[in-house]
Amino acid sequence: MAEKTTRVIAVANQKGGVGKTTTVVNLAAALSKTRHTVLVVDLDPQANATSSLGLTPQEGISLYPALLGEAEVADMIQPSPYENINVIPSEVNLAGCEIEIARRDDHLSVVRNVLQQIRDARVFDYILLDCPPSLGILMTASLAAADGIIVPMQAEYLALEGLSTMQRLIAQYNASGASNVKLNGILMTMVNSNTTLAQDVINEVREHFGDLVFQTMIPRNVRTSEAPSYGQPVVFYDPSCRGAEAYRAFAKEFAARNPTRFEVPPAQPQAPAAPAPDTAQTQD
Ligand SMILES: Nc1ncnc2c1ncn2[C@@H]1O[C@H](COP(=O)(O)OP(=O)(O)OP(=O)(O)O)[C@@H](O)[C@H]1O
Ligand SMILES: [Mg+2]
Repeated sequence: MAEKTTRVIAVANQKGGVGKTTTVVNLAAALSKTRHTVLVVDLDPQANATSSLGLTPQEGISLYPALLGEAEVADMIQPSPYENINVIPSEVNLAGCEIEIARRDDHLSVVRNVLQQIRDARVFDYILLDCPPSLGILMTASLAAADGIIVPMQAEYLALEGLSTMQRLIAQYNASGASNVKLNGILMTMVNSNTTLAQDVINEVREHFGDLVFQTMIPRNVRTSEAPSYGQPVVFYDPSCRGAEAYRAFAKEFAARNPTRFEVPPAQPQAPAAPAPDTAQTQD
């Protein structure tokens, strides 16, 4: 018999334009092809993950009403054009959410609390959170809601700075008891493997973080950058291009690092109760 848990993974880096959204939508796409069920939660008011999965943002359909207690989170889940991928889209109002949530004492745990119902239902293998490029409340609350964080990173000068900020945040939450989140991995994105700078940065990151760095690296690839304007992950837009290939390899590595299905051994038939030891014959 197989049992399933739902893993919540935040894809985050406060640095903008490093490939967070591209990673979320293509990881979702590649996982869906291996029959994993995925819920993408778009927490960025820019709504790039929403549109990259072919959906149009709609007012009132996002995590926002659920965070404010005005709607059931389950009612915010939208089907995507793709089998096995559902989405909680973003909307512009999500930006205003920051201020309202900041006033609350429980601001760090709000995202975790609203997602708990979905997690408990165990319908999805993965809930992937696409975080905005900021250190605002939505981003920090998303990190605190996750079991693991994936940090996409471009192999460029100063890239390591963003990473140390993320590590500091993770350590702070865990020390405050607000969460028990772990750095799940670092994904090198938009890699131009023929530059020495890229190679130097990659070597430095591997030296610091060892196996936390995924073996797969995502190459810079034109088809990957074109795909969002067609409202599609590159994994579906051009399955044979290098970007799609890399994201499929990454999804395989990711799923091995984050198993959600476990074989439970069948219950053993009850052995007859052992006879009570014959104390009279016991020697001391
Ligand atoms: N492997 C790649 N090759 C080429 N272009 C890429 C690749 N990955 C992402 N891009 C492009 O780089 C830009 C930034 O990527 P993306 O939107 O995924 O980053 P982000 O970290 O989510 O940005 P933001 O911080 O604004 O949310 C986009 O135009 C995207 O299409
Ligand atoms: Mg983004």
